[in-house]
Amino acid sequence: MQFDVWSKAFPDLSVDCLAVGVFEDGKLGTEAAAVDKATAGYLKGVIDRGDFSGRAGETQLLSQAGLNATRVLLVGLGPESSYHRKAWRRACAAALTAAGRTRVKSVGLGLERPAAKQLDDYYFGRCVAEITGSVLYRTNDLKTGKKPPLPAISLVVAGPVRAAGVAQAKLGLEHGQALVMATALQRDLGNLPPNVCTPTYLAERARGLAKRHRSVKVKVLDEAAIRREKMGCLLAVTQGSAQPPRFIILDYQGPRAPRTAPIVLVGKGITFDTGGISLKDPAAMDEMKFDMMGAASVIAAIAFLAEARLPIRVVGLVPTCENMPDGLAIKPGDIVTSASGQTVEILNTDAEGRLILCDALHYARRFDPAIVVDMATLTGACVVALGAHHCGIMGNDDALVSELVAAGVRADDRGWQLPLTEEYGEQLKTNFADMANVGGREGGAITAAAFLGKFTQGLKWAHMDIAGVAWLGGAHKGATGRPMPLLTDFLVRRAGAG
Ligand code: BES
Ligand code: MN
Ligand code: ZN
Repeated sequence: MQFDVWSKAFPDLSVDCLAVGVFEDGKLGTEAAAVDKATAGYLKGVIDRGDFSGRAGETQLLSQAGLNATRVLLVGLGPESSYHRKAWRRACAAALTAAGRTRVKSVGLGLERPAAKQLDDYYFGRCVAEITGSVLYRTNDLKTGKKPPLPAISLVVAGPVRAAGVAQAKLGLEHGQALVMATALQRDLGNLPPNVCTPTYLAERARGLAKRHRSVKVKVLDEAAIRREKMGCLLAVTQGSAQPPRFIILDYQGPRAPRTAPIVLVGKGITFDTGGISLKDPAAMDEMKFDMMGAASVIAAIAFLAEARLPIRVVGLVPTCENMPDGLAIKPGDIVTSASGQTVEILNTDAEGRLILCDALHYARRFDPAIVVDMATLTGACVVALGAHHCGIMGNDDALVSELVAAGVRADDRGWQLPLTEEYGEQLKTNFADMANVGGREGGAITAAAFLGKFTQGLKWAHMDIAGVAWLGGAHKGATGRPMPLLTDFLVRRAGAG
């Protein structure tokens, strides 16, 4: 896939298809008007005959002689008064979807751009690449019948960009392309069936990154090494599973990045969550194959950094195993000792994510990290609280939490802060150990974070509960690619490269 920007004479572009916007009242966008002029009123004719209304998301492909491009694609922009960034995103997606259904190989995007304060040149480039990537993404399904042909689009030329903004837009496209690659990796890992995407498989895919990029080093701890690290909570979760656990360490050292305090990212890697002895309901249990989207996000973030060559040091930690019921599985009432030395009474074996994370968060200390951010499909309670629209963001450092929230706003991948105050930690009290692994139904997303908070004292730490945003159920079942836009925006800013 290639991207470029155009900055003058849109109607003359040598591409297969020119995509132009029309507002709901029939008003032509700037580039549509230029194309109309170059074709002696062809577009106005179509609209005046009532063949195209400009409704948001509507598209119509026109064959056109007399231009370098052989086709013009009309794209509805909706009402002009509400044409903001979201409507622009939708129009771009509609244009690329429509072009992707044809044999068009190259597209010139000439849709009206929202005001610069809503979408500056860098984000313009980044968003064009991101939207193209999400439109062209196909799940790696195992259907054996004849598949529809893949879209032929291999070049998108985006604009308008003023000459002064070309460098920023191109940087945005470059980062956007790295984001597309990383997001496809993250979604692929999530969409794979759980008999394929096992802890061993995740470790192999991480190793693959180190083979492709000199800037990435990978180390994988097997069960014996995990035991030597005294990760009693991770071992407790895996003990009911026939699949061996792994603890994956990815170390990205970017060009010109000082070898100092790294950012540590931690991702929950439960490759299947049955709930264990506290077994889940059968309904939609297959979706618990997505319980490794935190892990996939961390691996994909490292792939993004390597691809974009950002000058920063980031360590990724991925504790990964299955949560299964078995004769040897943990039971409610079992007490185990975490790597930190703190003891945990397991009252619900379905609250396993926090158990594998707490040992990984403790492991993070040896890197003397500047900050630690964990990502996890941690609680159903977070889905109830925020739905699929915002991920939950919590932590012990308000500046870091705000930084993540702001990254989500810029990247249109939003998160919302939940209040992680001391009271929630008190819900984890038990007679028999330093803490229980559950704190009751009330405030479930926050008590889960409070549990993690007992392992991050003295660190600057934030937690993202991505249970609601990382995948869709129902007819469109599959990984969404979130929170890759938020996460990569955050990392780009931290690297001072955005
Ligand atoms: N992986 C689940 C969280 C989850 C549930 C994500 C539904 C997406 C949709 C996690 O391991 C879990 O089971 N959490 C329990 C915690 C409870 C036992 C305190 C939950 O949310 O029900
Ligand atoms: Mn669970
Ligand atoms: Zn889980």
